[in-house]
Amino acid sequence: MKNYKKVTIQTGPDVALIKYWGKKDEKLRLPENGSISFKLDGLNTITTVQFDPGLTEDVVKIDGKADSAEVDRVVEHLDRIRQLAGENVFARVTSVNDFPKGTGLSSSGSGFAALTVAGTKSIGLDLSEKELSILARHASGTSCRCICGGFVEWRDGDSSESSYSQSIFPSDYLDIRDVVVVVEEGMKKTSSTKGHELASSSPFFKVRQEKIQAKIEQMKTLLENKDFSKLGLLAEQESLEFHSILLTSQPSIIAWYPGTVQVMHEVQKLREEGILCFFTMSTGFNVHVLTLPEFESKVSERMEELSLVTKVLSAKVGGAPIEITNHLF
Ligand code: DP6
Repeated sequence: MKNYKKVTIQTGPDVALIKYWGKKDEKLRLPENGSISFKLDGLNTITTVQFDPGLTEDVVKIDGKADSAEVDRVVEHLDRIRQLAGENVFARVTSVNDFPKGTGLSSSGSGFAALTVAGTKSIGLDLSEKELSILARHASGTSCRCICGGFVEWRDGDSSESSYSQSIFPSDYLDIRDVVVVVEEGMKKTSSTKGHELASSSPFFKVRQEKIQAKIEQMKTLLENKDFSKLGLLAEQESLEFHSILLTSQPSIIAWYPGTVQVMHEVQKLREEGILCFFTMSTGFNVHVLTLPEFESKVSERMEELSLVTKVLSAKVGGAPIEITNHLF
């Protein structure tokens, strides 16, 4: 019987400065527009994969549970990996997150990036970063960015082969801190996958698409100039524009909780006091507060004092997924 390697991969999720929202091809997960993000070091997903000829089905556990919808999505991705390798063997997959999943912190991005790297290595494939990004994209759009390190651009592309991510600046290029503010740990009501389907029902979606490429170019220029105050403001405005699409989709997605709004007000108040920080949220209710190292402890302190905040985590710009030897089984 063939022996397959046990592989464990650790990676963080990312936070999008310009968001991916809406798909021009749902099956291939081709996005309506490109996006820009940076990887996070401080929030972690760890995933161990081993293909095993002795198994009669895939055995998947995420955060100690085998939720059927999550297992199905993992098995679908294992099928892609098996097909690529031309192998017909089941796998054991165990994955843990040290941050709340399904709450707007991109756990599917880190989860499927880790699964893609660990799964392909375990089955014996040796893929390039581009190939890994394309493969990961089929499982979850954001995970194609999480394959790369530092500041990352995902070009939308017009085919599967041309839609992948690349690092545009390394992780030590600009020291941005992300104060991750948790206001709730239960799962969000509407998944991102469902939300993408509703994007074009918003009357504002077309308007957003007309200007999105110019916004991407603007964000890249601000990154190039290391202009944190302007890029932070653009990221905050982008987040509000993105949520205006969610709010006006039919049916509408009201992702925010009272705590989310409390954090948004506090961030703007801190700015009035001269503390440079900006919020951005994805499809959930938890908030990323972007700031510089010199303001990080003040921002964290003020977030911890808010009545509706349950936890404050801290992250900085992180690298690509890494292989570790501490296996989960
Ligand atoms: C709102 O990648 O979670 O976080 O491709 O259906 O898995 P699927 O969606 P997902 O999209 C979330 C997008 C976002 C914005 C962003 O991170 O760019």
